[in-house]
Amino acid sequence: MKVLIVGSGGREHAIAYAVAKSKRVDKIYCAPGNAGIAELAECVDIGAMEMERLADFAQEKAVDLTIIGMDDPLVAGIVDVFEARGLRVFGPRKNAAILEGSKAFSKDLMKKYHIPTAAYENFDSAEAALAYLETGRYPIVLKADGLALGKGVLICNTLEEAKDGIRELMIDKKFGSAGDKIVIEEFMTGREVSVLCYCDGTHILPMTSAQDHKRAKDGDQGLNTGGMGTFSPSPFYTKEVDEFCREHIYQPSMDAMKAEGRDFVGVMFVGLMLTEDGPKVLEYNARFGDPEAQVVLPRMKNDIIDVMEAAIDGKLDTIDLQFEDNACVCVVLASDGYPLSYEKSKLITGMENFKDKDGYYLFHAGTKQTPEGVVTNGGRVLGVTAKGADLKQARENAYAATEWVSFENKYMRHDIGKAIDEA
Ligand code: AMP
Ligand code: GLY
Repeated sequence: MKVLIVGSGGREHAIAYAVAKSKRVDKIYCAPGNAGIAELAECVDIGAMEMERLADFAQEKAVDLTIIGMDDPLVAGIVDVFEARGLRVFGPRKNAAILEGSKAFSKDLMKKYHIPTAAYENFDSAEAALAYLETGRYPIVLKADGLALGKGVLICNTLEEAKDGIRELMIDKKFGSAGDKIVIEEFMTGREVSVLCYCDGTHILPMTSAQDHKRAKDGDQGLNTGGMGTFSPSPFYTKEVDEFCREHIYQPSMDAMKAEGRDFVGVMFVGLMLTEDGPKVLEYNARFGDPEAQVVLPRMKNDIIDVMEAAIDGKLDTIDLQFEDNACVCVVLASDGYPLSYEKSKLITGMENFKDKDGYYLFHAGTKQTPEGVVTNGGRVLGVTAKGADLKQARENAYAATEWVSFENKYMRHDIGKAIDEA
């Protein structure tokens, strides 16, 4: 069969890798893709938000299944566009992708259906938000309602900081209309875990757990980024935690969306905080995480096409989802300066060192093929990923492999997976 993947990051490279392993697939397209994905797929120069053009392409090439990797087109309704043309597509429709597209929606949903999460209030006026801050407990968390590249969350230690935050989000509109509405929420402490779940509208199949490192610098310092590295599984995500989440979070979230007439089909990403009072939801996303996908998908034993088709057909109850009994660590190589400004077009060398190395993966994010070779083309450039018998071994392997590739301004965190030592 023919598969089209929409997106261009490390996540889409990891998806392409899993799709390429499927015996059922003989042709992969990716729009727009990147230099690494081009080794597995034919990259097509159509942007992820060009929904009608993408659907035209899928029709022209008789694509059997399209997989949407990114949040923006999902929230904008790409699945509805494809379905209206009778095309098979994996991802939530617009009315379900709102779970990621509006934080106010997701908070109200959790409240209505008693899904554990931080206490909160929604605001659509800066005056009311500022007044509320006077009564708040600090630190306090401000969240832009809409999509903001994972950067629309501000943790404010003082009233003054929070007032500045409201100005940034609601008055100066740093994230545009994403800040028309905001959520002000209680600050929670604990370990963070991401659990990605395949969903078919009725059934929900949680994958193995992962932990992201969102801050730019070692010791969780610096600005929030899309994610600087991940490991899987999380040693803090115990069997008891898993049982609690299945009963009180995953299935209730699925059922809540169904009850609202918003059947969720695709990947529901549940960001959890393991607090002293038990696991609570930090956020939902409506797609695979990046870089979470880079450590979760290499460990998945199932044929990804079987799972995605079962999700589309409402038959996930027939899938026995299985993961390898090992561990995986991804260290992101970024352009120095990310998530603020950084230089591009630096030649990348040493990529051939990953060829035929079992258990090692070089997932491309911001890369581009030029006549001179592959060059950097974004903030997050590469995801160096390695498996190991356990987390410590996987971490050692991943960090050793970060030395195999070079480019000017190469930047990485040196403490990805440090939490493993505390487990
Ligand atoms: P989100 O995009 O909602 O996951 O937020 C980004 C990051 O901000 C999370 O991964 C957490 O590290 C942090 N965060 C979000 N909400 C809270 C909260 N209520 N308490 C503490 N930290 C939070
Ligand atoms: N790594 C977090 C995300 O994909 O949103």
